[in-house]
Amino acid sequence: QEQNRELRERLEQLKKERNAIILAHYYQRDEIQEVADFRGDSFLLAQKAAATDAEVIVFCGVHFMGESAKILAPDKTVLIPDERAGCPMADMVNVDGLRKLKAKHPNAKVVTYINSSAEIKAETDICCTSANAVRVIESLDAEEIIWVPDKNLGHYVQEKTGKKLIIWEGYCNTHDMLTVKDVVEMKAKYPNAEFVVHPECRPEVVAMGDFVGSTTAIIDYCKKSDVQEFIVGTEDGTGYQLRKDSPDKSFHFASKFLVCPNMKVNNLKKLVKCLETMKPQIYVPPTVADKARKSLERMLQVR
Ligand code: 13P
Ligand code: SF4
Repeated sequence: QEQNRELRERLEQLKKERNAIILAHYYQRDEIQEVADFRGDSFLLAQKAAATDAEVIVFCGVHFMGESAKILAPDKTVLIPDERAGCPMADMVNVDGLRKLKAKHPNAKVVTYINSSAEIKAETDICCTSANAVRVIESLDAEEIIWVPDKNLGHYVQEKTGKKLIIWEGYCNTHDMLTVKDVVEMKAKYPNAEFVVHPECRPEVVAMGDFVGSTTAIIDYCKKSDVQEFIVGTEDGTGYQLRKDSPDKSFHFASKFLVCPNMKVNNLKKLVKCLETMKPQIYVPPTVADKARKSLERMLQVR
């Protein structure tokens, strides 16, 4: 506790010295979310990175998020607390594979989930996050759409829009772990609770949801709802904001495995250290960044 207090004081000092803003995803450890200037889901954080006046963006999340921030704000220094915080789903698609699929469907538009590398975004027509995926698909006038890399979100969007997608077989290790059995057991244990679920979960699990949405959508829904008890089908870091917004409501995470180990690689100590040493910094080759930026900016324009 004493050590954390010292770290927090040092962080405040460094933030001023460096003119830095700290962005944190809702899946980060509480000790990081507590000190962040802004917490959000992938969409809100990308929007914030694109709009900030700060000179330095410290991105507490996983690698692709820092990359997206750098692409959207190329003149800023983007720091991440630990380079090893990657996203296994983002690594499930490679440029060669995507190019081959594009060659097979030359007229298709490519829609890429923001959970992907800068190189994949550079091969993309438009990006999306879980918050705007349905709207992004609806905004497209295309006979064929290639969807990478999340098959679960792809199936959900396909169902919502009625548009057939050519779906890549990637998935989030964390959300995909949640099973129908887990949810059935939780519903039996908490019969008065509503089940809120992220569309990165398996289709049969998503189908059980009383509410389906991105991390921010789940947080907003629970805050506004009259219901007092929820079974939560997304990453456990979300509990920080859920409990902060509604201290009198109960939140039961649907499985003990709903923890993204990559998101938890970051901690307060590493956050302070990266601002002290100004590394690791995100670098994206300008030729890649210029192409990738178009697909991200198109996404930000979809309303
Ligand atoms: P959102 O931030 O869009 O809810 O996505 C969840 C996720 O898994 C981020 O890595
Ligand atoms: Fe990737 Fe899933 Fe972790 Fe998000 S929660 S960073 S999609 S592995």
